[in-house]
Amino acid sequence: MTTPEPLHLELRDLAAGLAVEAGEDALRRRDDVIASAETKSSATDLVTEADRAAERLIIDGITAARPGDGIVGEEGGDRASTTGLSWFIDPIDGTTNFVYGIPDWAVSIAVAEIDPARPDQPGRVVAAAVSDPGKGLLYTAAEGAGAQLDGATIRCSTTSDLGLSLVGTGFSYLADRRRHQAGVIGELLPSIRDIRRHGAAALDLCSVAAGRLDAYFELGLNSWDLAAGWLIATEAGAVVDDLRGGSPSATFTFASTPGIAETLGDELRRLDADRPPSG
Ligand code: IPD
Ligand code: CA
Ligand code: CA
Repeated sequence: MTTPEPLHLELRDLAAGLAVEAGEDALRRRDDVIASAETKSSATDLVTEADRAAERLIIDGITAARPGDGIVGEEGGDRASTTGLSWFIDPIDGTTNFVYGIPDWAVSIAVAEIDPARPDQPGRVVAAAVSDPGKGLLYTAAEGAGAQLDGATIRCSTTSDLGLSLVGTGFSYLADRRRHQAGVIGELLPSIRDIRRHGAAALDLCSVAAGRLDAYFELGLNSWDLAAGWLIATEAGAVVDDLRGGSPSATFTFASTPGIAETLGDELRRLDADRPPSG
């Protein structure tokens, strides 16, 4: 483990405070906002006033403490960075669960160094927090400082047998992509212990970090879905990439305990899990 930079620990703590506050705010608003949920990228992609209010609360907190940092927020709160750092915010990850009253949703906040040529992507995530308000849990990480659940260090599982592995995944809001994703799951299922689809990518990545899933993969996540969980799973010892050795991205996110990363990765590559038919 490298020595964490004091700034990264400060950013982690700022992210953690805002993730908890925004989660409590969303919980308080839930009953008033679910009836007026709207749709975004498809008829099944929901957004509520609680998503927008949580993002505003988080951005106000960042602006007060770090006015020069950039923002990439799911609900549109974007701002350019003058410091080389940007915040990637998913104010409610798992909005479908939030609306249905399933307590598996999260507030996901990451701070990343960015490449000026690709300011909308988290180049290197240095601090992260994911709050799980339905269960009152908080996951945190800073680069080189490990990953924590409610302050206690977490590590990914030690599984090395693919056949005994519990694997999480998620599905796109777009019908054509879902057909491809269903085909991959159908082929994979006989080779593993079982599949879980919890409905919040940030929590899936934190579940790999905490050893409650042995691996997780998903096609087509956005930067705000994956940035915080990427660091938390990495700091907990997981392999996190795009299935081909690159950074996780909108193309693909793969997170696995090291013991099955190669066998599961081989299987997913054989199934072209990261290459949906175009069109
Ligand atoms: C979604 C959730 C879901 C995943 C989707 C995401 P949202 O985020 O993380 O688990 O399968 O790909 O878009 O829309 O609830 O913020
Ligand atoms: Ca999300
Ligand atoms: Ca969201």
